[in-house]
Amino acid sequence: MTDITKLMRPHLVKVSTYHGVDPSEELARSAGIKPEEVVRLNANENPYGAPGEVLDALSNLKIHLYPDPEQRKLRAKLAEYTGQPVNRVMAGAGGDEIIDLLLRLFTEPGQKLIDCEPTFGMYSFCARIADAPVVMVPRKDDWSIDLEHVLAVIDDQTRLIFLASPNNPTGNLLSEREARALLDTGLILAVDETYYEFCGKSLSYLLDEYENLVILRSFSKWAGIAGLRVGYCIGSETLIRHLMDIKQPYNINIAAETAAIAALDNRDAVLKRAQTLVEQRKRLEKTLDDLDGVTYYPSEGNFLLCRFAGRSAKDVYEGLGRRGIFVRLFSTDRLADSLRISAGTPEQTDRLISAIRDVVAEGK
Ligand SMILES: Cc1ncc(COP(=O)(O)O)c(C=O)c1O
Repeated sequence: MTDITKLMRPHLVKVSTYHGVDPSEELARSAGIKPEEVVRLNANENPYGAPGEVLDALSNLKIHLYPDPEQRKLRAKLAEYTGQPVNRVMAGAGGDEIIDLLLRLFTEPGQKLIDCEPTFGMYSFCARIADAPVVMVPRKDDWSIDLEHVLAVIDDQTRLIFLASPNNPTGNLLSEREARALLDTGLILAVDETYYEFCGKSLSYLLDEYENLVILRSFSKWAGIAGLRVGYCIGSETLIRHLMDIKQPYNINIAAETAAIAALDNRDAVLKRAQTLVEQRKRLEKTLDDLDGVTYYPSEGNFLLCRFAGRSAKDVYEGLGRRGIFVRLFSTDRLADSLRISAGTPEQTDRLISAIRDVVAEGK
């Protein structure tokens, strides 16, 4: 028998994969509860989903036709939403696809990406697939980037810097000063604004000054259509033209395209739901303020990175899981006492708060 792994690209044979979130049925099975009892606060999803107007738009799709490879309608709508010319925006199958395309466009095997941990794992995952070494620069204790350290590790093989703002899981923003210092290096700076709609703060105004800036956004979180996979990027005309050239022709399927357009057409209703999540995050903050043993980092997103002093995050995670509440656990030492908790509906927040109180009391 042929050992087909010998025919594979060697760096992919033992690649460390990315573990996405499990479906609710799996979570329920692990907790011994019914799927409808699961409270998913582990993926920063929007538990409200998309409003009725978006669901209605999905009811009569011509799914026997291929979608538009040029994404004409969606790009026109994105241009209007972002205030950018149409040839400076492009949609991807989630922000994830755009991350992958940027790695494909800018790195040859061996050319490097700079990543500032803790952060979203897809940057380093896509780099591993592209055979681009990741230079990991730890963030400072307040989770801001260590700018001097980032500048110091740049060499002639460095191509890209990825920074999320707000950062996942820490919730803090990249400052204009930091962005400018990085853009002045001439490298590609990808500022990932997946959580933009929860804070309204963007560095997109720097696009006119810097050809090497690209802004990533997503419809997964604020617009409640994570399952349809739509994200987009804003960049220079040159960058967008080349990304359009290398993307899969039909990367945005008909349902995804229709839902994204409907979300933008009904943005007030969609944004209202996102705003409710911000309110619930604030409510959770207030409760934690009065609870001994739990602290949190200020967040600009729809999630909160919480620290359970003197407790292993795994213990707390399991305690919450037994109560049907699923949050995000991390495997790194630096986050060994921390969990990322997504903002939920008011009812989910009620259940979460009562579960946290129980679990914290158990640990005393
Ligand atoms: C910072 C960040 N960027 C990108 C993404 C990917 O989003 P999408 O669902 O659009 O691929 C996520 C999802 O968790 C994220 O947290």
